[in-house]
Order: sequence, then structure tokens, then C-alpha cells
Amino acid sequence: MTKKISIAIDGPAGAGKSTVAKIVADRLSYIYIDTGAMYRAFTYKAIKEHINIRSEEDLIRVLKETTIELKHDGQKQIVLLDGKDVTKEIREPDVTNNVSIVAAHKLIRDEMVARQKALGNAGGVVMDGRDIGTNVLPHAELKIFLLASADIRAERRHKENMEKGYPSDLAKIKTNILARDKQDTERKISPLRKAEDAIEIDTSFLSVDEVVSKIIHLANERIEVS
Ligand code: CDP
Ligand code: CDP
Repeated sequence: MTKKISIAIDGPAGAGKSTVAKIVADRLSYIYIDTGAMYRAFTYKAIKEHINIRSEEDLIRVLKETTIELKHDGQKQIVLLDGKDVTKEIREPDVTNNVSIVAAHKLIRDEMVARQKALGNAGGVVMDGRDIGTNVLPHAELKIFLLASADIRAERRHKENMEKGYPSDLAKIKTNILARDKQDTERKISPLRKAEDAIEIDTSFLSVDEVVSKIIHLANERIEVS
């Protein structure tokens, strides 16, 4: 019987984490867990309920009574917040601009990380985020750190918005990406950084297929020896 391994994929916004993680999970018949969607769903609730997002105490009280579920409908991920589908709403600019502030609080991270560990502890999982290899799945058999230049990451997001028919401003996207890079890498609690044993892949000049192939190859090497 082949052992099911855990795969951690980290990196900054727009590096391609969720796109490749979804495909890799599908190819291996593993579960895909988008941890960013969990922080986004909770941020959406905090904004909607006018919670002071600078107040860790107010936020944690609400988070303790909040359910966040990630469901999969073929290639599509559905995010349920307290049972309600918020898949689209969590990508709105208001959420994107505030999520890194919410995600910097220690109590919020402790609670989210506990939930993510529970989702991933059986193996057979591809999880993407910022602190998966360093903190959520420190024993993952395969850790990947994806990166790409900020210009390329902003252009990817812009293209994605245009294709979906959403309003999009390239300069604003780049400003947001740089601000989140800064907040995510400089926060005190589990900042975005490459785990020592992670394999770095610069996706700037690679296609999605090329990145997926590299990761599947690395995964198979580990599945075969485990
Ligand atoms: O998809 P995108 O790269 O824009 O971001 P995301 O993965 O949806 O994550 C949104 C935000 O959640 C990040 O900018 C981080 O502030 C936070 N996050 C985190 O702190 N830790 C994670 N494991 C995942 C996301
Ligand atoms: O999850 P993360 O924020 O790291 O990135 P994403 O949401 O997967 O968005 C990356 C965008 O860049 C998607 O539109 C992909 O089709 C595109 N892309 C990629 O992911 N990887 C490449 N090597 C090239 C393009």
C-alpha cells in the first residue's frame, strides 16, 4: 500500500500556490486545504459584523463561535462561513486589504493553526498558505516554497480579474501585494518564510503545468520511498 504524504506549499500572494496546489491534490487524489480562505472568511465576518479588527480579544471571541468549512465540487472550492456560501465575497477588495491585519494576531493564528492541523493530520493532504511548512505541518514529507517577482504576481492577478470580468487596477493590485508581503513577512507570530527544508521554485517564467510537474515529481520520489 502506498503511504499518503503531506505536502506544504507556502509563498507570497500570486506566486501560484492555490492554482498548483489544487491540481496536485487532484492528480494524487489528495485533499486540498486553502488556509488563506479560512483567514479570508473570518475577516469577511469581522468586517460585516463591525468588529474592531485591531482588537485581538474581540476577534477571538467571535472566531471561537465561527465555523469555516472548505468543500470541494470537482475543481471548484466552496467556502462555507457559519453554513453560508461566501466563496465569492472573501475575494472582495475590502477583505484582501484587511486580512493580513486579522491574520497577524497571535490568538487568531493559534485557533486557525489548531483547526488546520486537525484537517491535515491524517496525511493525503496538499495545504497552502504562509506558515504551513514552518508551523502547521512541520513534519510534512514535501515542503515547497513558491515565489515570483511582485510585477509578475500583480499581472497574474490583474489578468485573472479581467478574465472573470471583475473591475481591476494593476497599480492597486501591486500596492496591495507589496503591503501584504510586508505585513506577512514582518509579523511577529509565524511570519511568511521558507522552511529550512523547503524546496524553492521561482515560478516567474514557468507555466502552471511546469510547476505542477516539478511538484508531482518530487511528491512521487517521497511516496515511493515512504
Ligand atoms: O490568495 P492570496 O495569496 O491572495 O492570499 P491567501 O492565500 O488567500 O491569504 C490571504 C492572507 O491570509 C495572507 O496575505 C496572509 O495575511 C493570511 N494567511 C496567513 O497569515 N497564513 C496562512 N497560512 C494563510 C494566509
Ligand atoms: O495562491 P496564490 O496567491 O499564490 O496564487 P494563485 O491564486 O494561484 O494565482 C496565481 C495566478 O497566476 C493564476 O491565475 C494562475 O493561472 C497564474 N499562474 C500560476 O499560478 N503559476 C504560473 N507558473 C503561471 C501563472
